[in-house]
Amino acid sequence: MIRKAVFPAAGFGTRFLPATKASPKEMLPLVDMPLIQHGVEEAKMAGIRGMIIVTGRGKNVIEDHFDVAFELEMLLERKGNSDLLEMVRKVNKGVDFFYVRQNLPLGLGHAVLRSKDLVGDESFAVVLSDDVIDAKVPVLKQMIDACARYHADVALAIQRVPDEMVSKYGIIKGEEIGPGTYKVSDMVEKPSLEKAPSNLAIIGRYILPPSIFPVLAATRPGAAGEIQLTDAIRSLIENKRVIGYEFEGTRYDAGTKLGFQMANIAFAMKDPELASGLRAFLQKEKFT
Ligand code: G1P
Repeated sequence: MIRKAVFPAAGFGTRFLPATKASPKEMLPLVDMPLIQHGVEEAKMAGIRGMIIVTGRGKNVIEDHFDVAFELEMLLERKGNSDLLEMVRKVNKGVDFFYVRQNLPLGLGHAVLRSKDLVGDESFAVVLSDDVIDAKVPVLKQMIDACARYHADVALAIQRVPDEMVSKYGIIKGEEIGPGTYKVSDMVEKPSLEKAPSNLAIIGRYILPPSIFPVLAATRPGAAGEIQLTDAIRSLIENKRVIGYEFEGTRYDAGTKLGFQMANIAFAMKDPELASGLRAFLQKEKFT
């Protein structure tokens, strides 16, 4: 039973400057929904009710976004705009949000460690909202089910990537124990192609046990001089059952400009109000 999800959201979003100079990257919209809300919606659909967001300076609008917008709701109510009112209210319906600050940029492992007291002594999910995954069954749900099926303590979402991309990811070494499911025996953060044990890359969804916290606290800076979540999970392999799970769904790397644009087009094409207009525009301007 996974009740809580941790969303690291303290990064500077330098790839999207100047847009992210004063606004959080996590609030960039895919069509009309901020990136981080896509992750929250996925967690909700997987039955998770506690959202722990690890923020930093300049991220206050994330808290406002997931709060009640009293004046806005009053206005929409007065205008009788019930559709918009429902949409606004749905943003935080049925879920609790908790915030903790990561006041030093020491890496993903450090961000997750900051959530320790809010997570407590239970297994939890980690969602990197840069990785947007469009799936029939929410990927976190697929992973929770895979944990139960394979009696795993740790599950990592994985995806096969081309050779030129392996140095951008955590890469696992594993033995296939079921369709698309690997028992992980080793993992390395952002290896060179020569050092990569496979092409199976970790994508931003994790199921982790609380025993990750003391390990994270003892993890020294690794790749890029940061405390890496990958290194801490690697230390768990000896005593915990760690699986890599090739999820079903389409993943967009919305943390890059190209991936972000692709995600926007894909989500716009799924919106009946936008699809035909966008298609006509792309054809008229000979973009396709
Ligand atoms: C992080 C992780 C990496 C993982 C990636 C997935 O890297 O450290 O292991 O493969 O997310 O998106 P980042 O993209 O934050 O550099």
